[in-house]
Amino acid sequence: MTSFLRYDDSAARRLIDGKWYETLQPDLLAARDEMLKDIELLGTDQIPADKQPLDAGFQNLPQQLLDEYEAKKEESLLGRIETKARELREESDRFVVLGIGGSYMGMRALFEALCHPWHNELTRQQRNGVPRLYFEGNNVDNDSITALKELLETGCQDPADLLQRWSLTVISKSGGTLETAVGFRLFREALEAYYGPDSAVSRSLVVPITGLEGKLRNFSNEKGYEDIFPIPDNVGGRFSVFTAVGLFPAAVMGVDIRRLLQGAADMTERFNSQPMGDNPVMDYTATCHLFEREKNVSIRVLSTWGKRLEALGLWYDQLLAESLGKAEQGATPLTVVNTRDLHSRGQQHQEGALDKLITNVIVERAGTEDVAVPMVPDNENQDDLNKLKGKTIPDILSAAIEGTNRAYADVNRPTADLILPELNEYTVGQTLQMLMLATVLEGRLIKINPYGQPGVEAYKKNMQEVLNR
Ligand code: PA5
Repeated sequence: MTSFLRYDDSAARRLIDGKWYETLQPDLLAARDEMLKDIELLGTDQIPADKQPLDAGFQNLPQQLLDEYEAKKEESLLGRIETKARELREESDRFVVLGIGGSYMGMRALFEALCHPWHNELTRQQRNGVPRLYFEGNNVDNDSITALKELLETGCQDPADLLQRWSLTVISKSGGTLETAVGFRLFREALEAYYGPDSAVSRSLVVPITGLEGKLRNFSNEKGYEDIFPIPDNVGGRFSVFTAVGLFPAAVMGVDIRRLLQGAADMTERFNSQPMGDNPVMDYTATCHLFEREKNVSIRVLSTWGKRLEALGLWYDQLLAESLGKAEQGATPLTVVNTRDLHSRGQQHQEGALDKLITNVIVERAGTEDVAVPMVPDNENQDDLNKLKGKTIPDILSAAIEGTNRAYADVNRPTADLILPELNEYTVGQTLQMLMLATVLEGRLIKINPYGQPGVEAYKKNMQEVLNR
C-alpha cells in the first residue's frame, strides 16, 4: 500500500482566478531551478553575497545519508547514530534532550507524532526498553529546570540500577546559545555528581551534537566524550531535523530513522521531478503565495486534526516565521489543533477578518483500533448519544472535518487538505521535508533569503548588555 501524502487545494482554488496559477508556473519552475543550482554552489567560493548564508544542504541530505548507510553500514553516520542510540537505550531509563529552536522543535515534533502519547507514564517493558524523555535547555525557566533536576535526583539514587540511570544529549549548532549552554552546565554537573566526576560512564552517557567548530565542540573535544555527532555547516538550525539533531534523539526513542529519511528523500525526488498538479511542494507554495499576493491572505493556519500533530505545527511555525519573516514580508503561521481549537479560535476563523488560509493536516487512518461510541439503556440516554449508534471516534472526526470545511466554503474562506494516509515515519518524513522545501521555494519566489535569522540577534545583544551591567 502506498503511503504518499496528498495535497488537495481544490476548495481554495474555487475562490481564486485560475489564470494566476498558469501565470505563476514559470516563476515557480524558475525558483525550483534556482534551488537545484543552490546545491551546486555549496562548498564553492561562488556563493553571491545576497545568498549568504546558503543552507541548502538539507535538500539532498536524506538520500545522501541513506546512500552512505548502504555503502558503509555500521561505519556510516546513520550506523553510528543507531549504535550509540541502542547503547543509551540499554544503559539508561531517562533521557534528557537539551536544545532550543531548530535544535529542539524537530525532535519534539517527531516524538509527539511517532511515540506513545503517554510514553513517560509507561513501564520500561511497555516502552520496549526505550527511556523516558525530557526536554530542557529550551527556555529560561527556573521552576522548570528545578523540577526536572529534582525529578532526576529523587528518581535516580542508585546508578547501578538501570531503572535509575539517566543520560543526556546537548544539541546546539553554534555551540553558544545561552539557554542550552546554561542547561548543559546545570545538567552536566548533576550527571557528573551522580556517576562520578570525569568518570568513563559520565562521558559515555553525554552525547553532544554540534557544529564543526564553536564553544560546545571545543569543550566536548577537551572533555573526551565518546561520541560527538556533527551538524553540517550547510544545514541551518530549523532545517536540521534530518541531521543528527533530530535523528539521534529519535533513534534513542526507537523511531525508525531510515524510514523517516526515505520519506524525506522521496519527497525531494517528487519535488525535483514532478509537474505542478502532482507536486505537493509546488502546489502548496502556489496556493499559499497566490492567496497572499492576490487576496491579502497573510495568516497561514496549519489546522492539525489530532493531538499528535501539534508539535509538528509548532515546528512549522518556527520554520515559516524565521525563514520568511524578513524585509517587512512573510506570512504569519498559526497552528491549531482540532477539534480542540474549534472551541477557541473557530469563531474567528469562521467570521473574523478574511486574512486566513487554512491548511488541514489530516491523518486518514488512526493508528489504533476504532473506538465506538458506547450504547446505554434508554433510561440512561439523557446525553442523547444513542443516536450515534454504530459511529466511532474516527467517524466523528471525519464529520467534524467535513462540516468545518463546508462551513468555511459557505462563507468563501479558503481551505486545503494535506492528507497523510497514516501517521508513521514515512509519512512524517515526507511532511517535514515538504514543508521545508516549500518554505525555501517561496523564499526564492519572493526574493527573500530563507536561510539565516539576522533579526534574532537584536534581543540577544541587548540581553547580553543587561547581563554585563
Ligand atoms: O533556525 C535556527 O537557526 C535557530 O532557530 C536555531 O536553531 C536556534 O537559535 C538554536 O541555535 P543553536 O543550535 O546554535 O543553539
